[in-house]
Amino acid sequence: MKNKIKVLFICLGNICRSPAAQGAFESLVQKEDKINFFEIDSCGTSGYHDGELPDPRTRKVAQKRGIHLTHRSRKLKLNDLDYFDYLLVMDDNNFREVISLISDEPTRKKVMKFGSFRTDNGVSIVPDPYYGNERDFESVQDLVENCSVGFLKFLGV
Ligand code: 4NP
Repeated sequence: MKNKIKVLFICLGNICRSPAAQGAFESLVQKEDKINFFEIDSCGTSGYHDGELPDPRTRKVAQKRGIHLTHRSRKLKLNDLDYFDYLLVMDDNNFREVISLISDEPTRKKVMKFGSFRTDNGVSIVPDPYYGNERDFESVQDLVENCSVGFLKFLGV
């Protein structure tokens, strides 16, 4: 299909939140038979975990929801900023980091907080669970699933 909607999920390490978000959004659009409308990827603002699978806790929690994560961590590239249509960051640090690499308004407008698409009235941040416990990973999973629903509604496809 031509003109796929290109979505990039961005966090710090690309082993917890952004691969969880990628998996949740892919799973949702797969269920709704809309996977062919999209190109979906994730990355980190750091290269700390380059080439690694998602954190075992992220994978375990996703697997319990029937989502098998196989993404390998990679660092954000400058070309991503042009290539993708939506640059969905998880927190304010990611937001600042990505915005600092952009000098034009049309590209700046692509940067959005994924948490702003949540369907309740909670804060628009997907908090870093890396130093937390399994419950923190569960709540990240709940949140990225909820935001996926909101983001798909926003896109209206
Ligand atoms: P993520 O979580 O940004 O959601 O992938 C983190 C993963 C690793 C580190 C920090 C956050 N780290 O410092 O290595």
